[in-house]
Amino acid sequence: MAIQWFPGHMHSTRKAIGERIKDIDVVIELLDARLPGSSANPLLAELTGHRPTLKVLNKQDVADAARTPAWLDWYNARPDTRAIGLDASDTAPARRLIDACRQLAPQRGGMAKPMRVLICGIPNVGKSTLINTLTGKTQAKTGDEAGITKLEQRIVLDDDFYLWDTPGMLWPRITIPESGYKLAASGAVGRNAYDEEEVALALLAYLQRHYAPLLDARYRLGLDAAGIAALHDDELLTLIARKRGAVMSGGRVNLQKAAELVMTDFRSAILGRITLETPPEFEAWSAAAQVQ
Ligand code: G4P
Repeated sequence: MAIQWFPGHMHSTRKAIGERIKDIDVVIELLDARLPGSSANPLLAELTGHRPTLKVLNKQDVADAARTPAWLDWYNARPDTRAIGLDASDTAPARRLIDACRQLAPQRGGMAKPMRVLICGIPNVGKSTLINTLTGKTQAKTGDEAGITKLEQRIVLDDDFYLWDTPGMLWPRITIPESGYKLAASGAVGRNAYDEEEVALALLAYLQRHYAPLLDARYRLGLDAAGIAALHDDELLTLIARKRGAVMSGGRVNLQKAAELVMTDFRSAILGRITLETPPEFEAWSAAAQVQ
């Protein structure tokens, strides 16, 4: 799928990270717990000079609770990496972040050697929400726009623990097509950068195979899992359009409207708790992309 996002985000943010990174002990990468592989920046290690990294699987309240532990294990098996799950309802995120970062850089601490942490992540992953919770106030969003990239906002989480925010950042080229669909479905990519019907079809193709009962419950399809899995993805979208009244005059279905409905239902978790990839699936997609 051709997703055209504005690479300026990346260039200006890369510059901003480059200016700060020499004084950083730990990098926090906020990931979307519904796409823990696809929402990770493949260039992060290079951008941050291979600093110890805390992967925070955010929005775990809307991810599949049966899948999140496997993703945490997957990341925790890496050297210099810790992974935790988080969501907006967490009442003590600061404590959990501080503890996890201290494990990654035990040599830092005390006023003489304060812990210096950089937080980054793709757009819409919940970074502003988390920072507002941490600071206890609504801060201006660190601009996702090219040009608004100064990392001047230092957040003091503890006497000897400082955090710097960065703008939401994607990377210039999607090498894993499945990741492109998932990033678009999650809302990380601006609406003008992709075709909604195409993304909704890809989303449905995955949900058919892995979350058919949730589709049946939401859209009252009247089919069992095998019946839903047997539908061609555009047949499924057509059926959803009819069930949800996305029909134009003359009885023709409005597939664009149905696609928007499906995406909204996924993003708002009305469909239920869903994770769009497992570690083995993501590894297989990554391997296939490298061969090409
Ligand atoms: P960003 O700065 O990384 O771009 O993301 P932001 O905090 O603006 O959050 C993007 C959307 O994700 C917001 O929803 C926010 O409420 C939601 N969100 C953030 N953290 C969590 C979480 O842990 N769990 C869930 N379920 N949602 C989370 P929105 O609908 O775009 O805005 P709003 O109507 O909530 O303000």
